[in-house]
Amino acid sequence: MSTLHFDDIRAAAVRLRGQVADTPCLHSRTLSQMCGCEVYLKFENHQFTASFKERGALNKMAQLSEAERARGVLAVSAGNHAQGVAYHAQRMGLPATIVMPRFAPTVKVENTRRFGAEVLTLGDTFDDARLHGLQLAEARGLTLVHPYDDLAVMAGQGTIALEMLAAQPDIDTLVVAVGGGGLISGMATAARALRPGIQVFGVQTERFPPVWSALHNEPRDCGQATIADGIAVKSPGALTLPLIRERVDGMLLVGEDDIEQGILLLLEIEKTVVEGAGAVGLAALLKHRERFAGRKVGLVLCGGNIEPLVLAEIIQRGMVKSGRLVRLRFDVRDVPGSLAEVAAALPARLHHAVGGARADRGGGANTRCSPCRTDSEQPARAGLPRRTHRLARLPG
Ligand SMILES: Cc1ncc(COP(=O)(O)O)c(C=O)c1O
Repeated sequence: MSTLHFDDIRAAAVRLRGQVADTPCLHSRTLSQMCGCEVYLKFENHQFTASFKERGALNKMAQLSEAERARGVLAVSAGNHAQGVAYHAQRMGLPATIVMPRFAPTVKVENTRRFGAEVLTLGDTFDDARLHGLQLAEARGLTLVHPYDDLAVMAGQGTIALEMLAAQPDIDTLVVAVGGGGLISGMATAARALRPGIQVFGVQTERFPPVWSALHNEPRDCGQATIADGIAVKSPGALTLPLIRERVDGMLLVGEDDIEQGILLLLEIEKTVVEGAGAVGLAALLKHRERFAGRKVGLVLCGGNIEPLVLAEIIQRGMVKSGRLVRLRFDVRDVPGSLAEVAAALPARLHHAVGGARADRGGGANTRCSPCRTDSEQPARAGLPRRTHRLARLPG
């Protein structure tokens, strides 16, 4: 096969049956109201390794010859693809080597090793790691499992669209995160074959827009860190870009704040955890509302691997932005009446919050007050004991 055909995706679906989760695809009443269109969510963050990447990796490895299986596979990735390859290689009894750049977080290295893969950290940049990986695959006779620029990998990812349209036949639009473009190439191919009139849009971040740039003939720099690290890919694939040009209706960009808002909404409304790339679809619906008004839109929650500390920061920032969390830090002498002095100096709308500080001493409601540094951590000035108070106002 020199291009991706619908039959490749149907064949992939047969190979994958029972080997990866047929994740739920559910209508979201609340998000639909917020976005002004009907929203359907495909929960690929429920896969065992918490991303759709298992599909493409498995479809590729399932087609290897006996000899190729015996020699093993190699992937270059520090993210979801590494885990997808390692997990299914282990299930299939294939030796797997994963090459990660030296800066890969230890947690990702360890998670991938846990699936029995040999993990090598080589190269100071991702491109260096890729070069090392290619050389190693050649030297050891290993089959490279590319994260996106491979027709078998794209066909595996395309099975998501089959499942979505079977579960929710009304869907008339798909909005899909784009990194190297394997996911959208597979999904657009399947969706167009099943529903010729369907619209398919890709989403990238403003910080990594290479496919958007290629389609709009407008070069833009990449490289600044983004919360959507899963789609921080500097150049589209040689195979994926022509497919995207041919089968995708348009590319949309979203910013870091839009993505954080998407993560928070999915957490609060759907009670589901997604990583940055998993939230760009919802971010695009909110940012480009007019384009989707009245349509029936399928979104893929494509990954759920987010560092807990990053998630915690996003939650806090979101609550501050929406006015549900007010944090005041002030230094007072730890003597009766000092908080009352502070309260008197604050604008009226914050008095309520300071009421919580009094709750510390027996009054107030709806607020929490936490002394965050004690005398021992902070030298007393003027010989008087001091405390730094941190007030967090909770929603009423
Ligand atoms: C969570 C997540 N979403 C989307 C993508 C984009 O997939 P593709 O590179 O096939 O465009 C990736 C790629 O790794 C990913 O990990």
